[in-house]
Amino acid sequence: MEYVTLNNGVNCPVVGIGTYMLTPADAENSVREALKMGYSLVDTANAYVNERACGRGIVDLLYIHQPAGNWLAGYRQLEKAYKEGKAKAIGISNFEGKYIEELQTKWEIVPQFIQVEAHPYFTQKELRQVLDKYDIKLMSWYPLGHGDKSLINEPLFAELGRKYGKSSAQVILRWHTQMGLVVIPGSKNVDHIKDNLDILDFTLTKEEMAEIAKLDKNQRFYHRTDEQLVQFAGWRPSFEQK
Ligand SMILES: NC(=O)c1ccc[n+]([C@@H]2O[C@H](COP(=O)([O-])OP(=O)(O)OC[C@H]3O[C@@H](n4cnc5c(N)ncnc54)[C@H](OP(=O)(O)O)[C@@H]3O)[C@@H](O)[C@H]2O)c1
Repeated sequence: MEYVTLNNGVNCPVVGIGTYMLTPADAENSVREALKMGYSLVDTANAYVNERACGRGIVDLLYIHQPAGNWLAGYRQLEKAYKEGKAKAIGISNFEGKYIEELQTKWEIVPQFIQVEAHPYFTQKELRQVLDKYDIKLMSWYPLGHGDKSLINEPLFAELGRKYGKSSAQVILRWHTQMGLVVIPGSKNVDHIKDNLDILDFTLTKEEMAEIAKLDKNQRFYHRTDEQLVQFAGWRPSFEQK
């Protein structure tokens, strides 16, 4: 495994598994299989209604999911958990633009991570400049464009895949890690979960990274609205009952 070193000295693997939209049964299976294969980074959320299935009591890295409602009070809770040693690292998710700007004036503890949409069509260029200033690492959600066929079927990835004996998805994931980004591809397919970890035995050249950079279209696949933020703040998702 390869790791990124966070601004507080903690090491984090560069590849993890995502669990968005997995049922508790699928999440439990994917996580169990992934752990057997050597994964040690799992991304889940209360809102995915599979948090319990993903593993009770894992608080190594704790995020605030959205800048919704009184998010500063939520961030203070993360800081508290960090100070008390309950979380090894803390992060903000979907805090691009004005939210990270405001948080910068208020944080006591600089977050170790931000989790945002990122992939070769949307590389978060602007945000990464802010992150570099504070040594905050970026964890890419939708690293494969949420399975978008146009991204995965880009001829460049197929060509590089042929060269390195990898699938297009593996090439995309390697691009992320070489960009210094941590990835959490989601899958309920055990072969894909295995493939998604098997990306560290080849290195894209500088020229190949530059070719992939040309695919950037500043195109997101997910657009959050202010109305949604209001809904998120009042949302009380159910959770699995034993
Ligand atoms: N913080 C946030 O607000 C936020 C938002 C969205 C997502 N997330 C996190 O990010 C994770 C990843 O996002 P995502 O799962 O929505 O999208 P994704 O990882 O970009 O794409 C998942 C899709 O790609 C397919 N796939 C996975 N590995 C593949 C492979 N090796 N070859 C071909 N296809 C492959 C999956 O199908 P199969 O199941 O068939 O493999 C699935 O359809 C989520 O699970 C969640 O943990 C966070």
